[in-house]
Amino acid sequence: MPEFVAGAWPPAPIRTERLVLREPEARDRPAIIELFTSPEVGTYIGGPRPRDEFERALPDEPERRPGLFVVDLEGAMIGIVTLERRDTEGGHPSHVVGKVELGYLFLPRAWGHGYAAEACTAALDWFAGAQPGEPVVLYTQTANDRSMRLAARLGDGRAHDHPRNEAP
Ligand SMILES: CC(C)(COP(=O)(O)OP(=O)(O)OC[C@H]1O[C@@H](n2cnc3c(N)ncnc32)[C@H](O)[C@@H]1OP(=O)(O)O)[C@@H](O)C(=O)NCCC(=O)NCCS
Repeated sequence: MPEFVAGAWPPAPIRTERLVLREPEARDRPAIIELFTSPEVGTYIGGPRPRDEFERALPDEPERRPGLFVVDLEGAMIGIVTLERRDTEGGHPSHVVGKVELGYLFLPRAWGHGYAAEACTAALDWFAGAQPGEPVVLYTQTANDRSMRLAARLGDGRAHDHPRNEAP
């Protein structure tokens, strides 16, 4: 992966009004499995991962990598927010490749409370300080209503929306 934010990772946990953005820990494992195997979460991102296979492959200590924040509510993981530089894989269009992309996945029980918006805003604010002037793109399916509404809320000039109509 190309250099993400030189010398700035990991930041100290980021605290918002209700949430903490931090690196993954072993205690997040059940929530990570739930997140990636949930049919609801997977609807617009290629479907859920097969649970047995995913569980077997997931290490006891979940992977930590630059740009990956676990979102913690009252001591429990409710989702993840990512800021990652897109490479050529994954079918991304050319205007996204090479750019830093904002991603977000939350457990269905945490939807509808503004947590994703709160966490993404905090991650974008952190990134704007760590990498001043670097644009962030957001790439989502137009059929993904919740994601589109979130993108609109975040789209105040820091994140740029690149909707697509085709399935992943
Ligand atoms: C996309 C996703 C993160 C959006 O989650 P979300 O909870 O709808 O997003 P927000 O945090 O912006 O919450 C907004 C909702 O909380 C409500 N809300 C309740 N209390 C709130 C508060 N205190 N502050 C703000 N919003 C609040 C808002 O009214 C809004 O409700 P609405 O959707 O009925 O209008 C979530 O649906 C998800 O994880 N989807 C699966 C993964 C996915 O597809 N990711 C996108 C890949 S590109």
